[in-house]
Amino acid sequence: MADELDALASIPVPESYRGVTVHADEVDMFEGVPHKEKDPRRSLHLDEVRTPELGPGEALVAVMASAINYNTVWTSIFEPVPTFGFLRRYGRTSPLAARHDQPFHVVGSDLAGVVLRTGPGVNNWKPGDEVVAHCLSVELEHPDGHGDTMMDPEQRIWGFETNYGGLAEIALVKTNQLMPKPAHLSWEEAAAPGLVNSTAYRQLVSANGAAMKQGDVVLIWGASGGLGSYATQFALNGGAIPVCVVSSKEKAEICRRMGAELIIDRAAEGYRFWKDEHTQDPGEWKRFGARIRELTGGEDPDIVFEHPGKETFGASVYVARKGGTIVTCASTSGYMHQYDNRYLWMSLKRIIGSHFANYREAYQANRLIAKGKIHPTLSKVYPLAETGQAALDVHHNSHQGKVGVLCLAPEEGLGVRDHELRARHLDAINRFRGV
Ligand SMILES: NC(=O)c1ccc[n+]([C@@H]2O[C@H](COP(=O)([O-])OP(=O)(O)OC[C@H]3O[C@@H](n4cnc5c(N)ncnc54)[C@H](OP(=O)(O)O)[C@@H]3O)[C@@H](O)[C@H]2O)c1
Repeated sequence: MADELDALASIPVPESYRGVTVHADEVDMFEGVPHKEKDPRRSLHLDEVRTPELGPGEALVAVMASAINYNTVWTSIFEPVPTFGFLRRYGRTSPLAARHDQPFHVVGSDLAGVVLRTGPGVNNWKPGDEVVAHCLSVELEHPDGHGDTMMDPEQRIWGFETNYGGLAEIALVKTNQLMPKPAHLSWEEAAAPGLVNSTAYRQLVSANGAAMKQGDVVLIWGASGGLGSYATQFALNGGAIPVCVVSSKEKAEICRRMGAELIIDRAAEGYRFWKDEHTQDPGEWKRFGARIRELTGGEDPDIVFEHPGKETFGASVYVARKGGTIVTCASTSGYMHQYDNRYLWMSLKRIIGSHFANYREAYQANRLIAKGKIHPTLSKVYPLAETGQAALDVHHNSHQGKVGVLCLAPEEGLGVRDHELRARHLDAINRFRGV
């Protein structure tokens, strides 16, 4: 706070810190409770945690701010499986990794903060550096990870499949997760894009994903949500034509404010792709496809940006253009998808699986934020002690864009270095605020 960042190297690292955790002895607490009623406020705790020992190639970071991702919702409701299994398996891989196998799990896969200490073998980062961290944790001891680091057999999502995540005052990261903090953003704004921005970049822009090009029609589910609010910006920024699907007037309005023109309010138009639990309704796929054509002047999507999963996947495969791509990174509404394969093979469509991003892709995505080409979509910010409520907002889909969390930052708006760049983009940076 005194802006004496050089002094950090000589100040002792605290032996413990406050972090948001789930507890291994509570994984059954929601047994028999319906999905929507599982309440993260009951399962997420703010605990004093011992600062982990620092290993080679790692850093301890003072976390100024973090953000809620859907993976913290999954962890907090212990669905589809409790995350302690990930920590146990990781812990078995080496004595150093055994630090992660604890009866508590400090969650969170985003951070903006300041490096406190680096471990042996770290040359690119030092105490005092202002950073954001992406959430790809890799070991890279196996040849498979050396083409695309997402292919490392020991690839994990930090703060979800590893311990000591970002919803805390201190976090443990590998230094190949670190990237420069965008200078024109506050701590909470800088922490917000991280995971979803990198994921949307690989999924939509990268050659490892859909390799979007200018002029492509891109159907974006949840276009004002975490992933979707970045996918929409990438589409617009890259000269593509987004067709944004949302579920309210307010969400439609925010897509318009990002610059999108073609918007479908799925709630107002009442699409029901499933007649009952087992039967889809192709008539509804057709109605949806006809609506897309009405908006685009007769064109079908070159790319469908998928993540709702079971509920929408049949429709997504149906509406993609001949030769088009359905690129999926999630299954929020259920992971056993059903679609009519005739529409896939006869029309030569492709389904691509995508997951987070490699370091290079995450770096490129963060670079676009730092240059003011893509903007954070932060709507609301909670203090660390209210992380449970923040996760509940996302669980109940009552949020817009990203929900932020202040960790060590005592208030919002701190950490801005480049006021000139900020002034140029202030409206865009604040687009989602208070909606
Ligand atoms: N593989 C990866 O690396 C990765 C990375 C990030 C996220 N994810 C996953 O991706 C999913 C979305 O994450 P997010 O951060 O974007 O979450 P989010 O902020 O909740 O946004 C998702 C949006 O999807 C829409 N949606 C939800 N259920 C739907 C349904 N049944 N039918 C149609 N639309 C639906 C909602 O928008 P409307 O209500 O406005 O339509 C919602 O705002 C989560 O399951 C998350 O775990 C995966």
